[in-house]
Amino acid sequence: MAVSISALSFEHHRQALGIAEATPRVSWRFEGDAVDWEQSGYDLEITRGSDGVPKLYNIVDSSDSVLVPWPDEALASAESARVRVRSHGKDGQTSTDWSDYSSVEAGLLSTEDWQGAVPIAADRPTEVDSAKHSVMFRKAFDVDAEVASARLYITALGLYIAELNGERVGDHQLAPGYMSYQFRHTYDTYDVTDLIQQGSNAVGVTVGEGWFAGRFGLNSRRNTWGDTLGVQALLVVSTKDGSTFTVKTDSNSDWHATAEGPIISSDIYDGEVYDFSAEIPDWSTAGFNDSNWLQVKELPAVQGRLTSPDGPPMRKLLTLEPQSISTTQSGKTVIDFGQNLVGWLSINVSGPAGTNITFRHAEVLLLNGDIATEPLRSAKQTDSVILSGNNTVSWEPHFTYHGFRYVEVTGWPTESTALDASSIRAEVVFSDMERTGYFESSHELLNKFHENVIWSMRGNFLGVPTDCPQRDERLGWTGDAHAFAPTSNYLYDASGFWRAWLRDLWSETDADPEKASPEFSPTNDPEVKSGSMPRRPVAVWGDVIVGSPWALFQATGDLGMLEDQYEGARTWIDQGIPRNEVGLWNRSTWQYGDWLDPKAPEAEADLATTHKFLVADAYLIQMTRLVSNMGAALGKVDESESYASNRLELVSAFHDAWIEPYDLIANVTQTALALGIRFDIFDNDTLPRAIETLNSVIANNSYLVGTGFAGTQQLGFALTSVNLTSTFYEMLLQTQVPSWLYQVVMGGTTTWERWDSLLPNGTINGSGMTSFNHYAFGSVADWIHQKIGGLAPATPGWKVVQVAPEPGGGITTADASYLSPYGKVSATWSVGADGKGFNLEVVVPPNSQAEVTLPGSKETATVGSGKHSFQDDTFEMSM
Ligand code: BGC
Repeated sequence: MAVSISALSFEHHRQALGIAEATPRVSWRFEGDAVDWEQSGYDLEITRGSDGVPKLYNIVDSSDSVLVPWPDEALASAESARVRVRSHGKDGQTSTDWSDYSSVEAGLLSTEDWQGAVPIAADRPTEVDSAKHSVMFRKAFDVDAEVASARLYITALGLYIAELNGERVGDHQLAPGYMSYQFRHTYDTYDVTDLIQQGSNAVGVTVGEGWFAGRFGLNSRRNTWGDTLGVQALLVVSTKDGSTFTVKTDSNSDWHATAEGPIISSDIYDGEVYDFSAEIPDWSTAGFNDSNWLQVKELPAVQGRLTSPDGPPMRKLLTLEPQSISTTQSGKTVIDFGQNLVGWLSINVSGPAGTNITFRHAEVLLLNGDIATEPLRSAKQTDSVILSGNNTVSWEPHFTYHGFRYVEVTGWPTESTALDASSIRAEVVFSDMERTGYFESSHELLNKFHENVIWSMRGNFLGVPTDCPQRDERLGWTGDAHAFAPTSNYLYDASGFWRAWLRDLWSETDADPEKASPEFSPTNDPEVKSGSMPRRPVAVWGDVIVGSPWALFQATGDLGMLEDQYEGARTWIDQGIPRNEVGLWNRSTWQYGDWLDPKAPEAEADLATTHKFLVADAYLIQMTRLVSNMGAALGKVDESESYASNRLELVSAFHDAWIEPYDLIANVTQTALALGIRFDIFDNDTLPRAIETLNSVIANNSYLVGTGFAGTQQLGFALTSVNLTSTFYEMLLQTQVPSWLYQVVMGGTTTWERWDSLLPNGTINGSGMTSFNHYAFGSVADWIHQKIGGLAPATPGWKVVQVAPEPGGGITTADASYLSPYGKVSATWSVGADGKGFNLEVVVPPNSQAEVTLPGSKETATVGSGKHSFQDDTFEMSM
């Protein structure tokens, strides 16, 4: 029987270097098989700086191990501390050993801490109407004493890559990332102690246009946040003789710049052009002569609040090798990586000077085997590399990313370099969140679908949650994020990632004169951003400002985050949503409704079979309930009650509008009935018929999907709540179009935007809106985790876990596990031979509990930590 502390963390950071919180809350996870172990109190030891005296905080009478308050004085700017913890068990149960030390270090907490560092740009005219040449900045400096430690604080107006003495700093990609730069502009902190030396040094920074200044957004316009590429950096070197030396960006510090370097262009949608003959050897080393480089000029301070990031940086997290390299009927060379992915290529190649190699990226192939670029619309996703004839060189693009499985290669110098796994690979890039959730079952196609859901999350979690990663969009569409948020919180610890995006969402909503939560965030449409064009308040999409914080609260139990977001949620409900005379949605607003209902006309995805305002009103009722729930969780009892009674008024108005005048409900569709059931809108009179009707609507539709974005995420839960789980299994395991597994049998390796992105005859849906990497319909995985896997938080933050698998669909085994804030929780079940008997094994981490309900049982057993086995010999599987 053991219990130990496996990880100690601060706030929502995986690595707490340069964080914005001066009094970071502390969390620790447990490991070990101790039975019924609960914490009675803990000792927290904090040692400030490198040579401080450890201070011990002995907290008695607390079972809290997640986000506990920082007991010590606030950290000063750049101040660090080492922290360890030891937990004591209740009722004489054993204590843990001390955890390992975890370090935390504050970032630059105020503007003054930047010590006068300001954004600088090359003193040259900027390219306003075309892709911008990347700009290189450099400065040489001397350090007179032995280096004790060094930090680089850096951000860009654009995207940056920093180097010190010829070495790349850190492993962040596309830094500082994508955000609402007008409100929040993040900088990164690097420990560069090992890259600085006593004597001569140089720092170099390359800046590309990125989201900030490149061609981007719905209208693909340039310069959304600025037209000039710049960098702001502060290097702080502490030396062993006790002094501090700084290098900062300003126009007096002898920085120089050039736009003559090898990155001719590097654009999010269009790709990169890289010319090896324009490389500038050793440019970021001390001995380099930059006398012919340009002077720099100062730019105004960044518009948004300069702060350190909430979410993890993007990194190269996986590398894939080509699965096949073939020549198509039309003579093109096409590489298949076997997986639709997001990132870029990395190559090693040698060839004659002037060799121009071009890589065009695509998600799918045409029937003749050529790459299909139609779905990309105007995004070129094309990289070109021009060789200079030197030895073997390595290259990967710098400030772009692509969504692809296939790459068409032109101009590869096969005489000097074989095109194979040793010369070309794919790097998979996404926000470096910790993987938390797993699921596997006896159903192979379902497992593959689940894997595809994970891949689509990876492909669309690059700094912000995007709709798709390949065409000329890649925007933070809020409806998609709303649908997928609960699923994402199971698969990965996305708490910092969401926190960042939710902050921007609320800033943007608050800044809008009408308080409309945006259709997509960051809002980068220049007219909407500047306020000269009104923003459109849209149900389900704008509702993310309520739904996503609530989902995050369920996953993390983070009341601090909830408090921050509560105001935004209320503002949207109270002011943002235009209402009619009875409090429902104003009928003159634009709505996406049940977007991409499979029966909607191909080119008009909003023309669903369920009325747009029925969908909008149903969501309004549910969002009002969630705001009431938030108020209750935050102890705002009066407000909570007021939203609860407002909800009842809305339900009654809904009845008048959508139920009373009709036989049952205005639209007898899967979505209308599912929303009515799931959101508790039907009353005792109408509910039984609604249940029966939903069941027959689904059966009459041959158990195929009849829902779009709004209905899909709710349908399974609606059916399960009224004992129709078997109906949902029947749907979930269909393989005809439209269904979830159709895309799997059609060879999909990610989840698709449309139920039929690829048509049954293998051709591509020609609607002009056909992505093969959209996560919204993957939102069904939330149901899979909870109902097949059987795992869900019973209380926010998983202190109590609900284990209640509902087997069906002929599935005979399932295994779900989740790295909760307490430690690893798992549920593994199997059905005995001949479908008789049910075995369940549950592992509960220390300091948490599980409420276990066996299939069909009305009884729930509450168990503490440890491994528990359950058996039901009377169980018979329905096939
Ligand atoms: C996106 C969606 C998004 C929608 C708005 C599309 O172009 O790809 O997923 O939510 O527009 O309805």
